[in-house]
Amino acid sequence: MLLKTVLLLALVAQVLVLENGLLRKPPMGWLAWERFRCNTDCNEDPKNCISERLFMEMADRLAQDGWRELGYEYLNIDDCWIGGRDAKGNLVPDPKRFPNGMAFLADYAHSLGLKLGIYADMGNFTCMGYPGTTLDKVVQDAQTFAKWKVDMLKLDGCFSTPEERAEGYPKMAAALNATGRPIAFSCSWPAYEGGLPPKVNYTLLVDICNLWRNYDDIQDSWSSVLSILDWFVTHQDILQPVAGPGHWNDPDMLLIGNFGLSFEQARAQMALWTVLAAPLFMSTDLRTISAQNMDILQNPLMIKINQDPLGIQGRRILKEKSYIEVYMRPLASEASAIVFFSRRTDMPYPYRTSLARLNFTSSKVYEAQNVYTGDIISGLRDKTNFTLIINPSGVVMWYLYPIRKLGTPQQ
Ligand SMILES: *[C@@H]1O[C@H](CO)[C@@H](O)[C@H](O)[C@H]1NC(C)=O
Ligand SMILES: *[C@@H]1O[C@H](CO)[C@@H](O)[C@H](O)[C@H]1NC(C)=O
Ligand SMILES: *[C@@H]1O[C@H](CO)[C@@H](O)[C@H](O)[C@H]1NC(C)=O
Ligand SMILES: *[C@@H]1O[C@H](CO)[C@@H](O)[C@H](O)[C@H]1NC(C)=O
Ligand SMILES: *[C@@H]1O[C@H](CO)[C@@H](O)[C@H](O)[C@H]1NC(C)=O
Repeated sequence: MLLKTVLLLALVAQVLVLENGLLRKPPMGWLAWERFRCNTDCNEDPKNCISERLFMEMADRLAQDGWRELGYEYLNIDDCWIGGRDAKGNLVPDPKRFPNGMAFLADYAHSLGLKLGIYADMGNFTCMGYPGTTLDKVVQDAQTFAKWKVDMLKLDGCFSTPEERAEGYPKMAAALNATGRPIAFSCSWPAYEGGLPPKVNYTLLVDICNLWRNYDDIQDSWSSVLSILDWFVTHQDILQPVAGPGHWNDPDMLLIGNFGLSFEQARAQMALWTVLAAPLFMSTDLRTISAQNMDILQNPLMIKINQDPLGIQGRRILKEKSYIEVYMRPLASEASAIVFFSRRTDMPYPYRTSLARLNFTSSKVYEAQNVYTGDIISGLRDKTNFTLIINPSGVVMWYLYPIRKLGTPQQ
């Protein structure tokens, strides 16, 4: 009976699982799209157009300004890099904007200890109208990316049918695997099917993709952040259990450093994305980012929480009538990340609560570190009442851990 089970499991694993061992922690890096879009006008705007120069300058910043050491290692290209296909049908980059080719850019990233991500689209065209990867081109394009030494592929889904996507995404996963090169696979597939079962099969996605976009593209505004957060929270019973080491939900890029978020909102997006175990892809101009925004993105305790080895996605656990919400993510070593988030629009709000109200029932004594201020709050028992001041559209974020058990000998 045991032998039978083992054999069956081995068979199932062989058929279904293309586990590539990558992204055991949410990926971190920089992705061009939200900030630089499809700006291809290198004559008028040479510093900001989608080009080799832009990616090399961002690579330099990632390597020189402390990002890489903190884990921001991916340098990811999005749409609008493709020039066409050569006589053999191989994808080639735009020759004016990427004069040295993609293998050169990958080498440059690798020489700085970074990884290069690229973009393609499962369909007739990319979303911006560049050549797509139709079903007959999937294997060839995977081989091209591997030849260039690319480390991640984001496969978008514009200009395809649901049937083509259902065939194409698993086919690309297999084709990437067959190249023998470890290439992390980011699938936009679920976002094109509404993000929910039964149209989306998360069991299958876990097997073939390392991360996936579930919902709308993020835009540079607080209302966009809230609409994404609301959708993730509404469907957290479905989404939370499918995330884990090697397979992540992706609520899309961080806006921090751009134009649409206030200081409090930037801190809130960082805290909420971290507690959701989201990929941390910045999409901002790292050449001009302010020290204040760098502090948000480079907070070491924040990153430690995002990269927690258990890889458990957090949940919203409480929604108060006062428009305060509480999110919690369980972490290694019995620690937790707690985000107290205010949706109020009046003034800083004194939120009075206790760990018991968050369903902590143990007799342990806890200590909390405020992730943004570094303040330590000691001697918290489950019934201890405490008051936090939470700014409008802001957060207070805690890293909470037990100190010792009451009434039991120290171990
Ligand atoms: C893709 O192109 C083919 C061939 O031109 C066409 O028949 C098909 O309808 C197109 N598919 C989509 C989803 O646009
Ligand atoms: C391909 O899949 C097999 C089976 O899951 C795995 O052991 C191997 O590491 C994968 N190789 C690559 C390059 O992803
Ligand atoms: C979802 O995909 C898994 C893995 O491929 C498969 O075993 C299962 O039958 C699928 N579920 C549905 C409802 O199609
Ligand atoms: C605490 O537990 C109760 C009973 O299981 C449950 O109804 C409530 O939603 C939980 N509250 C939180 C904040 O988890
Ligand atoms: C905490 O506050 C609650 C409700 O306001 C109160 O009933 C309780 O006695 C307080 N607990 C302590 C330990 O002060």
